[in-house]
Amino acid sequence: SRRALVVVAAGSGTRLGHGIPKAAVTITDRSILEHSLDAVTDELNLDLVVLVLPSDPQFFEQLSAQGSGLASRTGTDVVLTTGGSSRPASVKAGLGMIAEYGQPRGWAPEHTAVLIHDAARALTPTEVHQRVAQAVEAGAEAVVPAVAVADTIKEVQTPAEITEKNDDVVVERVAKTLPRSDLRAVQTPQGFTWSFLDRAFEHIKEIDDDAAARLTDEAMIAEALDVDVVVVPGHPHALKITTETDLITARGLLDSAGA
Ligand code: C5P
Repeated sequence: SRRALVVVAAGSGTRLGHGIPKAAVTITDRSILEHSLDAVTDELNLDLVVLVLPSDPQFFEQLSAQGSGLASRTGTDVVLTTGGSSRPASVKAGLGMIAEYGQPRGWAPEHTAVLIHDAARALTPTEVHQRVAQAVEAGAEAVVPAVAVADTIKEVQTPAEITEKNDDVVVERVAKTLPRSDLRAVQTPQGFTWSFLDRAFEHIKEIDDDAAARLTDEAMIAEALDVDVVVVPGHPHALKITTETDLITARGLLDSAGA
């Protein structure tokens, strides 16, 4: 069997607000992308790593150095591509690179585990990658790592008649409270068989742009296709760096690890 990892790092980083792509933002003196690749070690036995990078030539070039660094550190083949304007488009670009690499080498789609990882989850430990890959190899078509949620989570509705929102007063009403013990916060890498992903991306060709934009992870496609999604333990350090607060948390975690 084969293992490939796709790291999507083509997001704009608008919510982080540094004015540069998120993957290029530094946590300490190293970029979010570089930290996310620290989890890639020999024990993962990856056959291929695909980096999906921003199309801006300056950032593409800057971040592509991480690919060369990873290849020389681990001996794993690393290929690069540019992402698209949505997350599914970026993932699709990454999968295209697996096809280009794997098909001539005779990779069997049903025996190839593909891990799809957000670069933004920069401190995800190797053990999470390993658990996800092993669950795919044990027979699951779709696998997500997840942790319990600390917050009480409510579904809200915005009354249709109220069209203007102001930043201070968000006009929403609680529709219902979801039972916390049933909820999980889902992380990455998410793992799939390559044959499932082939079907999944055929399926999403048929949906419109708005529906595609609501696909915030690949497991949602499995759910839509009635494919079982297996849950394995995630890790608290696998938080998604989205806001300045997350960046501070990540710095704190790295500081305490180094101390
Ligand atoms: O936007 P969001 O935080 O959900 O992005 C999750 C991951 O997907 C990030 O690592 C980001 O770089 C990546 N992404 C991408 N291409 C996009 C949007 C997001 O590669 N167009």
